[in-house]
Amino acid sequence: MAIILGIESSCDETSAAILSGRKILSNLIADQKVHAAYGGVVPELASRAHQQNIVPVVQEAIKAAGIDVAQIDAIAYTRGPGLLGSLLVGSSFAKGFSMGLQKPLIEINHMQAHILAHFIEDNNSIPQFPFLCLTVSGGHTQIVKVDSPTSMKIIGETLDDAAGEAFDKAAKMMGIEYPGGPHIDKYATKGNPERFHFKVANVGGYNFSFSGLKTAILYFLRDHTKNDPDFISNNIADLCASIQDSILNALMQKLEKAVHEYNIKEVAIAGGVSANSALRARLKEKEHWKTHIPNFDYCTDNAAMIATAASFLYEKNDFGDLKNAPLARMKF
Ligand code: KG4
Ligand code: ZN
Repeated sequence: MAIILGIESSCDETSAAILSGRKILSNLIADQKVHAAYGGVVPELASRAHQQNIVPVVQEAIKAAGIDVAQIDAIAYTRGPGLLGSLLVGSSFAKGFSMGLQKPLIEINHMQAHILAHFIEDNNSIPQFPFLCLTVSGGHTQIVKVDSPTSMKIIGETLDDAAGEAFDKAAKMMGIEYPGGPHIDKYATKGNPERFHFKVANVGGYNFSFSGLKTAILYFLRDHTKNDPDFISNNIADLCASIQDSILNALMQKLEKAVHEYNIKEVAIAGGVSANSALRARLKEKEHWKTHIPNFDYCTDNAAMIATAASFLYEKNDFGDLKNAPLARMKF
């Protein structure tokens, strides 16, 4: 059984994992608190933090897995998409390690890895092909038709902001610290989603647009805090529930359309926003769908998903090249 070291550094999490077959032996994640003060990821600070974290995180992952470095059969890393400076840290480290150990490199697309996180052994259920996957993260929002681990097609995506970005920007406007998604999720559990109405534009096909929502929230908050400076703090739960509901309505509407029109009832969610409790609850309500919801640990960025995606390429001897540079934008 192949042992793969996975390395993830596309945004603000430095992560390393050791996979044996499809079993995770270790999955370490160093997150970067430094960005909270700025209300979003500062690319230069992210690169520097990756540089500080990468060696100890890989060392710890190997130690926690209880293996010897010489047992590693391949080194997988996120080639893109992501922040270029952040990707450079992970890719340079992976290339150096691959040369030093004389073991093959495997290049991974971060968005495909989010989807393939479903194939990590300790998930509750594993999707059957073909399936539809709603991938919702801080940088992307996609509906993907997944025909096999190595054959996927994006059938719809956001034309502007990602769903996670909509959560984070709404949170920032309400004075909630970055990343705001998990905080909105928490406040929303105590709020009334019907209290306020925020419109999300309905664009064509299976595509999404969340930039109008951001403007609508901005004007709404500006108008309501004019006469009542405590409006946000007095209504935080209802605001969060209403904003979350608008985002989820837009996501579910397009996902339902895709399930209907493609006649594929095998459905998965992936990416950071798939940790959202209300989204998970809505999917569980779908009696005629077979829904697959990843374990919380595999929703947000992690290297276990990178190593898992790599295991499929390893089986096909589909290896990377030292000459290949990371890609801020990377197609499927
Ligand atoms: O996949 P991910 O870890 O990183 C990217 O590749 O972007 O996703 C991060 C995003 C952030 O926007 C964060 O606010 C959002 O996922 N997120 C959530 C929740 N947990 C994370 N959004 C809503 N509800 C959550 N529980
Ligand atoms: Zn991600």
